[in-house]
Amino acid sequence: MHFFDVVEKRRSVRVFTGASVEAGKLEAVLATATLAPSAGDLQAYRIVVIDDAVTKKALAAAALDQDFVAEAALVLVFCADPGRSETRYGQRGASLYCIQDATIAACYAQLAAAAQGLASCWVGAFDEARVAAVLCAPPGLRPVMLMPIGYAAEAPERPHRRALEALVHRGAW
Ligand SMILES: Cc1cc2nc3c(=O)[nH]c(=O)nc-3n(C[C@H](O)[C@H](O)[C@H](O)COP(=O)(O)O)c2cc1C
Repeated sequence: MHFFDVVEKRRSVRVFTGASVEAGKLEAVLATATLAPSAGDLQAYRIVVIDDAVTKKALAAAALDQDFVAEAALVLVFCADPGRSETRYGQRGASLYCIQDATIAACYAQLAAAAQGLASCWVGAFDEARVAAVLCAPPGLRPVMLMPIGYAAEAPERPHRRALEALVHRGAW
């Protein structure tokens, strides 16, 4: 699919078929995520792949009982690594760059999923400490988004977007 078609066609999907995700497609999603830019090329994030039912259910519960998270074939958890950014960039690295690194990687992953006919949803509403506990995450890692991935069992309408003029300011204020 052409890049702009991928971006145009991607939707947040919250109903999944029971079909699993082919290993090759998952690898492509993960590899594409690593191509994202990152501050100082530190790639200050970790991507956790969860495909077992028990852990998916625990993640859904930690995500304010968003049950659809557990219905996806797998869930990627993007975690920022503040310590890794801090070594080179101090507080700005720890509080900002690592979050941006993880977020951009997740964005690349989501588009890579869409390009392969997979459906996903960006899930940001969750109890961070609880997700970290479910994952037994090493101290310091911050889960920043959950990405349930699978095959769509719904076809959401194209959502409303604010007008370009409301979002873009040409020149300084
Ligand atoms: C930071 C962030 C947090 C989000 N959190 C959730 C969430 O917890 N649950 C959910 O169902 N969707 C969540 N979404 C998805 C948005 O609802 C969705 O992207 C938006 O409605 C636009 O729809 P679209 O993705 O189909 O373009 C989140 C998206 C972002 C970027």
